[in-house]
Amino acid sequence: MSVSKNGREPLYVLRTSRIHGRGVFALRYIRKGTRILEYTGERIDNDEADRRYDDTRMKRHHTFLFTLDKNTVIDGAANRGGGDASFINHSCDPNCEAVITGRKIYIHSLRGIEPGVELAYDYQYERTGKNDAELEKFYLCRCGAENCRGSIMKAAKKKRRHRARPAKHRSAGL
Ligand SMILES: C[S@@+](CC[C@H](N)C(=O)[O-])C[C@H]1O[C@@H](n2cnc3c(N)ncnc32)[C@H](O)[C@@H]1O
Ligand SMILES: [Zn+2]
Repeated sequence: MSVSKNGREPLYVLRTSRIHGRGVFALRYIRKGTRILEYTGERIDNDEADRRYDDTRMKRHHTFLFTLDKNTVIDGAANRGGGDASFINHSCDPNCEAVITGRKIYIHSLRGIEPGVELAYDYQYERTGKNDAELEKFYLCRCGAENCRGSIMKAAKKKRRHRARPAKHRSAGL
């Protein structure tokens, strides 16, 4: 739990979540643009992340990994130095976002958050483009948002049709 330096009640608390397992909930009103907490953990490379979390052995996806850059992943499991941020669930209609500042990851509020509301950001897992139908199930989203895209992966890119546009829609000079 966060402990305020000014002796005020902490900003958030960990509780059982309707989305998944445990989640992080606002205890006090959180103003838009607040830097709430840091995503901490051990910095490892992709191979080590694959060794630690073997997707093929999981029925449904469950990890504490956060990709910092193309070579570095943060393992936020409790036994790897992870903190409360590792318990923030995904939502397709997020009230928070993860911001990379320097080599650190912070969770910021995207809007005002009332006490009791669960904090969530959009995980936007990268798609590989392969086995998408299977992966949709593996990464099934239970955020409950009206605009839930059904999966915690990024929205699938729409296939572009390469139809010739009528000449009248082209800008001059093309
Ligand atoms: C970093 S943990 C979040 C904390 C998790 N609730 C727990 O108690 O361990 C990330 C995992 O939580 C689950 N999760 C988070 N958001 C989800 C969502 N919207 N739908 C389904 N599962 C979710 C997935 O299993 C994901 O791999
Ligand atoms: Zn969703």
